[in-house]
Amino acid sequence: MSLSVAPAPVSGSLSAHVSGSAAVPALPEPLPVLGLDVPAPLVTGGELPYAALDYAASAPVLRSVWDEVAAYAPYYGSVHRGAGYLSQHSTALFERSRATVARFLGCREGDEVVFTRSTTDSLNLLASALPAGTRVFVFETEHHAALLPWQSAGATTVFLDAPRSPREAVETLESALSAAPDGPKLVCVTGASNVTGEIWPVRGLAATAHRYGARIVLDAAQLVPHRPVHIGELGVDWVAFSGHKLYAPFGAGVLAGRTDWLHAAEPYLAGGGASRKVARGTDGGVEVEWQSGPARHEAGSPNMIGAYAVASACRALSEAGFARLEAREVELTRRLLAGLDEVPQVEVLSLFGDDEGTGTGSRAEARAACRVGVVSFVVAGWNSSHLAAALSAEYGIGVRDGLFCAHPLVGALLGAGGGDTGGCGAPEGQSLNAVRVSLGAGTPEEHVDRFVRAVRELVRDGARWRYRTEDGRCVPEPGGTAHEPGTGRVPTA
Ligand SMILES: Cc1ncc(COP(=O)(O)O)c(C=O)c1O
Repeated sequence: MSLSVAPAPVSGSLSAHVSGSAAVPALPEPLPVLGLDVPAPLVTGGELPYAALDYAASAPVLRSVWDEVAAYAPYYGSVHRGAGYLSQHSTALFERSRATVARFLGCREGDEVVFTRSTTDSLNLLASALPAGTRVFVFETEHHAALLPWQSAGATTVFLDAPRSPREAVETLESALSAAPDGPKLVCVTGASNVTGEIWPVRGLAATAHRYGARIVLDAAQLVPHRPVHIGELGVDWVAFSGHKLYAPFGAGVLAGRTDWLHAAEPYLAGGGASRKVARGTDGGVEVEWQSGPARHEAGSPNMIGAYAVASACRALSEAGFARLEAREVELTRRLLAGLDEVPQVEVLSLFGDDEGTGTGSRAEARAACRVGVVSFVVAGWNSSHLAAALSAEYGIGVRDGLFCAHPLVGALLGAGGGDTGGCGAPEGQSLNAVRVSLGAGTPEEHVDRFVRAVRELVRDGARWRYRTEDGRCVPEPGGTAHEPGTGRVPTA
């Protein structure tokens, strides 16, 4: 079951890269993913191949992952629960999948991989395993999955203000930790922002945490599909991520790292698989001896296909090589940012203020190098929901609009000046929202080029269709076009 990294049959890909007579070095090919030829119907008539530019929410399925899952499916059997051949086979494959993920993450001797449902589930699991009295330090800029579990689990949570540079992030953490009383401490930090795409100074934060005796968990949901994440090299204690952002949307996630807190904690879920021995007690109740390995927190029949798919994606990305993936992604992100730079009404959101060029490189190059392929922006005169609806309905492009489950971060980025004007799509009383475009290993150049052209045309000419607000979302007005005489476009503001 080896991975094929053969070039994808990408419709409309601009892979020639020839400008005049001078050949521009070709980009590495995208990895083959499903869905590139799904037709998206347009309100204006006809259809276009759907351009999935919402990888940060859920990435398309890697073709190799799909093929491996399909090849395994006839051999599916219960895990850790059967004497039969397929049960034995599936149990072995489940444990091999665990080992593959551990290798992919560079786990240290003694670390373990627990299969969960998602990043949210992984972080809630860790929150449930905190030693009594743990103080958790978390930046307000985190995704809600990393922001909220600690307080909900009853831990004292210290919310740190949004830093405006990687250095300020380390300094802010240092001053919070230096003022903290003795006792167990945990820092939770993202590897790459799901809003700005900016990469966080994980090594520096981990070193700072450890200097003050704190543990650190990395929310790698947005980093792991784009950059190598090596627990040992980064110096973090745990890593959490989701299969559906790693081209393996079969309902599994991962928490990997140190075992001591996990083994000392009550099982995350009580039930079969997590319990080694159960007997009626003398008091009439039941006495339980819990498992101590990863099974302790994996009660119930495990998601075999999900775990296998995550391992398959880990293998595929390792075989493709992150150097290749990163080279392609940085170039596509540069192209995206350079295209948006040409539209003066567009403001790209950045927490760390990555606006300066790097001497020889362009501003877009500098900004592409310090983020994964995730870019959020607002457009003067447009409500973000309206723009996202028009990108979908008129250009077949799927992006996300809103607050991206990171309300305090988007609030800090847009501040009071973030009020959009365009009428359609602004939920009652809510003026803060942005558009997020995100790409990854399977993104063809054509998707980026179509997106840039669409933003340019929409901002310059307005939408070709009328839209209205329905349940807080902007949707195309049913029944007929609403072209303005003379322009063929609907004015935006
Ligand atoms: C940075 C980050 N952390 C956590 C999550 C939560 O992931 P999931 O919804 O897969 O649990 C997301 C999802 O978008 C995310 O972007």
